[in-house]
Formats: sequence, C-alpha cells, structure tokens
Amino acid sequence: MNSVEHRPQVLVFDSGVGSLSIGAEIHHLLPDIDLLYAMDRGGFPYGMWQEDALVEHILQRIHTLLQRHRIDIVVVACNSASTAVLPSLRQQVSLPVVGVVPAIKPAALQSKSRVIGLLATPGTIKRRYTAELIDTFASDCTVLSVGAEALAPAVETLFWQDEDSPDVWQSVAAAFHQYPSAKALDTIVLACTHFPLVKPQLAKHLPGINWIDSGEAIARRVKDLLENNRYIRGGRGRQRACILGAEAASQTLRDKLATRGIELIAD
Ligand code: DGL
Repeated sequence: MNSVEHRPQVLVFDSGVGSLSIGAEIHHLLPDIDLLYAMDRGGFPYGMWQEDALVEHILQRIHTLLQRHRIDIVVVACNSASTAVLPSLRQQVSLPVVGVVPAIKPAALQSKSRVIGLLATPGTIKRRYTAELIDTFASDCTVLSVGAEALAPAVETLFWQDEDSPDVWQSVAAAFHQYPSAKALDTIVLACTHFPLVKPQLAKHLPGINWIDSGEAIARRVKDLLENNRYIRGGRGRQRACILGAEAASQTLRDKLATRGIELIAD
C-alpha cells in the first residue's frame, strides 16, 4: 500500500452478484474502507468456462480495472475464478491478492457425522484445486459433491429481475438426496459466492444443515492485511459497483444495490 495516508480501496471481483456476499462481510468488519465491486456480467457464468480461457479472461479484466482505479487489495470473490486464476494473478500483480476457495477445512472440522456436502458450480467441482482441498482437509469425510449449473444463474435472475426460482432451490436438495449417505449429511459448504445470498431458500429444502461459507474468513484476511498500514480510519468508506460487459444494470439491480448503500458507476 502506498505510504500517503488514504482510505484503502478493496476490489471485490466476481462474475456477478456473488461479490455482494463477500463485500457485505468485509463492509461489516471494516466499514471505513472503500469497496469497489466488479461484476463481470459479460463473462457470466464462470462456472461453465474452460479453465485456460477463463484464466486469460479474468487476468485481462483485472488488469483493466487496476489501470482505471486505485486499488490496494484484490479479492477474487469467486470460487470458480479463484480455483483457476490465483497462481497466475499473484505472479502478475504486485498487490495482495485474496482468493475465495471452498471452505472444506472448517466444514470438516465442524461436521459430527463426517458426511459433508460441497455445493459449487460445475467448474469448481472439477478443479484439481478442489480435489486437493478435499484430500488435505477432509480425507476422513464422505464428501457429497453437487455441481449446480442452474443455481448461480437463478441468483442473478433474483437480483436483476426479482424473479424467484423455487424449482431451482428444490433441485439442489434433490441432487443431495440422490446420494445414499445423504441422511447423515450435517454440513454443506456453499462454495460459490452467489449461494449465501439464497441460504434461506436452500435451507427451506434442506433443514437442520450447518451451512458454511468463506465470507467472514475473507473479511478477517483483509483486516489482517491492512492491520500494519497507516490509513484513514473512522467514518464510512464508499461502496461502489461497476458492471463489466455490454449489458446495463436493470432498475431492480440498481434498487437492490442502493438498499445496500452501493452506488453504481461506469467501469
Ligand atoms: N460466484 C461464482 C463462484 O463463487 C460463480 C458464478 C459463476 O458461475 O459465474 O463460483
């Protein structure tokens, strides 16, 4: 971070409204820093991209944002992106980069039945990075993986058009129940940043589950990174969002951002 005292700005980058679940936790813990939410609507859904093409696309998007905005920390607020792009991004960018990856470790620590669910995009389920997390932290657990193709798009629709998708929420429960060991399932990792935004809808169909996501841990990591830096503290940081890609934000999305105190700006 540069030495002149200023209010730090954190880039919260995702393919869409998933950035809001992570940004909300950062804002809650650190209300006096600036947040720039970047929603790459043009590239959505990341969960369906081939890994190499996705890495190239995200690197290009983040470089452009860094040229246009003063940023102190980059948070890749997307599991589908982080599980693919982190090594290349860290090589190319001199700023601290915080990635959001599936919270397998806390889930394995908390599960009593040793049967945990992993709910993610198809891309995240397939990644080697995810397999390594399971091997390292949950080798004594049965992990029931569900790569939900329709879930992140349904969350986008909820935020852009205010349209509910009850069939999609229900289909997630059905996908878990296909596993013979589903009866013992006690913990599910929400391994896509879109999913915490519909936790109540999912919980209705999967009652009694301990839901785990990475939001709070990411906020704590950002706090640690800022801890030893001089910066303007107190007051309230700005929260701004930009939509990347051709489509202009719908009025519904604008209203939902405004309710969260987030101003929409051009990218
Ligand atoms: N929010 C992204 C994640 O955490 C996924 C949405 C997408 O498929 O673009 O994985």
